[in-house]
Amino acid sequence: MSMLKRLPLYPMTTKVDSQGHLVVGGCDAIELADEFGTPLYIFDEIGLRNKCREFREEFGKRYPDVLVIYASKAYANAALERIFNEEGLGLDTVSEGELGIAMSANFPMEKVYFHGNNKSQCELELALKWHVGRIVVDNFHELDMLEKLVKKQGIAQDVLLRMTPGVDPHTHQYTSTGTLDSKFGFPLPLKDKAVERALKIRGLNVVGLHFHIGSLIYEAEPYEESVGFILKLAAEMHKKYGLELKELNTGGGFGVQYTLDKPAPPTAFFAEKITSAIIKGCKRHKLQLPKLIVEPGREIVAQSAMALYTIGVIKEIPGVRIYASIDGGMADNIRPALYGAKLEAVLANRMRARDSGKVTISGKFCESGDILIRDIVMPKLVSGDILAVAGAGAYSLPESMNYNAFCKPPIILVKNGKVRMIRRRETLEDITRCDII
Ligand SMILES: Cc1ncc(COP(=O)(O)O)c(C=O)c1O
Repeated sequence: MSMLKRLPLYPMTTKVDSQGHLVVGGCDAIELADEFGTPLYIFDEIGLRNKCREFREEFGKRYPDVLVIYASKAYANAALERIFNEEGLGLDTVSEGELGIAMSANFPMEKVYFHGNNKSQCELELALKWHVGRIVVDNFHELDMLEKLVKKQGIAQDVLLRMTPGVDPHTHQYTSTGTLDSKFGFPLPLKDKAVERALKIRGLNVVGLHFHIGSLIYEAEPYEESVGFILKLAAEMHKKYGLELKELNTGGGFGVQYTLDKPAPPTAFFAEKITSAIIKGCKRHKLQLPKLIVEPGREIVAQSAMALYTIGVIKEIPGVRIYASIDGGMADNIRPALYGAKLEAVLANRMRARDSGKVTISGKFCESGDILIRDIVMPKLVSGDILAVAGAGAYSLPESMNYNAFCKPPIILVKNGKVRMIRRRETLEDITRCDII
């Protein structure tokens, strides 16, 4: 009965009821599928809030001054951002759109950090106009633009400088950002020039440094190495140019458990390793402890959501493979097709059914690469079964698309048996709205 073993990968309130149905947030998943249709994304509010608290507590009890900011690229939604604000988190945004969602959620702008490797002038103007807490400057072009903008507007803006530490986080090439050969941040050989230039710009207050080395990181060493690098750099830059490291932002990237065979270290593990590396490094370089900013995205939302699909066509190629096609796939979750992400699933309507053999879960889109899960052991599937995919909360929805004119699915939030829709399903009208005949 391997399906029951997969339950720990699901949102924290997930259970199985006496009918063998999956239940989340006190709601029967099959009733939700009937009411809202599939594909359907379900967020567990208790699980989400619990994750926010865990981050604040684990870092907060080990370090004097910490702000946890949610990296909204993992999934930006105004209703969820209200929850993150209630839980005391800040917000990492990376585009005009993400800033706009934060604004629509009434998120306190002083707790918003604005990132991006190619911010446009419009985006920078908007960030300044809305008084974001920090702009995380990525490159010289951005420094030039900011210099003109703050001068023109006669304002001052707090900024961090994003440095590329030249550290390999041992993750997929597509989720690695901290090596020298990266489009993000000031590269190591240009660190002096970057700090010297930024400090000379009147109206920019350089309050600290930032690094983010990648996503889906399961080891502490890349963080420890990066902290060591950045503190050494800060001490050097203090001596040479008088840089004061008031804030240190160590990015996000914490790995989560998507499959049974790849566990992830708990939040406490990363909190311990990162905070002790900073405390040790500051002592060594005789630096005051800076305010620490951590910006998890995936770990806050990934496991707090599941996606429901209906099984349609089942195609058996004797001696080769069984394909079971679902009513979604790469258009709502491109992660498996993009970088080989592995996922687990269960049958939400028959949780106690016995395993039968391997099956490949394919999507409905016109690409052979549209495979959600290859070779998963499942009970014998029948059309109409409801498949629940775990770990659906991060990067699937924001990377979703309208391929084959697919209408993106609705998102609901469940808690104590109550359901709240936080994004409706797209309609044909949404699909054709921007076309001009
Ligand atoms: C600058 C920055 N911070 C934080 C994150 C969040 O990473 P994760 O969702 O893996 O925690 C990202 C993601 O790419 C990022 O680019």
